[in-house]
Amino acid sequence: MEKKELMYEGKAKKVFKTEDPEILIVSYKDDATAFNGLKKGSISGKGVINNRMSNMLMAKLEKDGIPTHLVEELNDRETAVKKVTIMPLEVIIRNISAGSFAKRYGVEEGIVFEEPTIEFSYKNDDLGDPLLNDYHAVALKLCTWEEIDIVKKYAFKVNDFLKKIWKECGVTLVDFKIEFGKLTDGTIVLADEISPDTCRLWDSETNEKLDKDRFRRDMGGVEEAYEEVMKRLSEKA
Ligand code: TMP
Repeated sequence: MEKKELMYEGKAKKVFKTEDPEILIVSYKDDATAFNGLKKGSISGKGVINNRMSNMLMAKLEKDGIPTHLVEELNDRETAVKKVTIMPLEVIIRNISAGSFAKRYGVEEGIVFEEPTIEFSYKNDDLGDPLLNDYHAVALKLCTWEEIDIVKKYAFKVNDFLKKIWKECGVTLVDFKIEFGKLTDGTIVLADEISPDTCRLWDSETNEKLDKDRFRRDMGGVEEAYEEVMKRLSEKA
């Protein structure tokens, strides 16, 4: 499979066309941004880790009955994926308070919820990805009720599954963001990536942060944290 023209360049990935109109190639970069692109930097080796980790997790999810965009890993940084139209919704599941949730509601980080929460934001950089609920999403015609019901069902299943995998690695899954896409025939599949860029991962014993928060908050040890979670996942897989 060969890369043809660049179709899209995002903050952390490039997407290329291929000779097959239904298949794209995603190429993971080391570039890192935070706060809607305000903070810019690079995390050395991140692209390689995120490519590998996202593919490992999506392959497991696919086996567990969640359709994903994954076709095949091509090399260190590149993966063939099914062409989808990304639904303009970020789907966020939280098991423990942290990040914008803690800030918005004035609570400390680390409150373990009895049940996971779900929230959506409208994928729109100009507006700063504003929060919205399912009624807003349907009113704005970002999706139909049928689609958002499927998205919710998949998102909680992804959470159950990922929580279990990470627990076996000695890692607590605090929260994460996922995105879904639609195939040409309308089928909804899990797309984008699952990585330390898009999940909060804390060491189960010490609660040490092992994810992109180390970059967002200038904590240092960013590369080491990505390598650590990748190592733990590889050993369990
Ligand atoms: P938040 O607490 O900042 O809203 O983040 C919730 C989760 O979503 C966290 O695991 C990080 C992830 N996330 C992204 O993947 N992309 C983003 O642009 C943001 C803001 C968060």
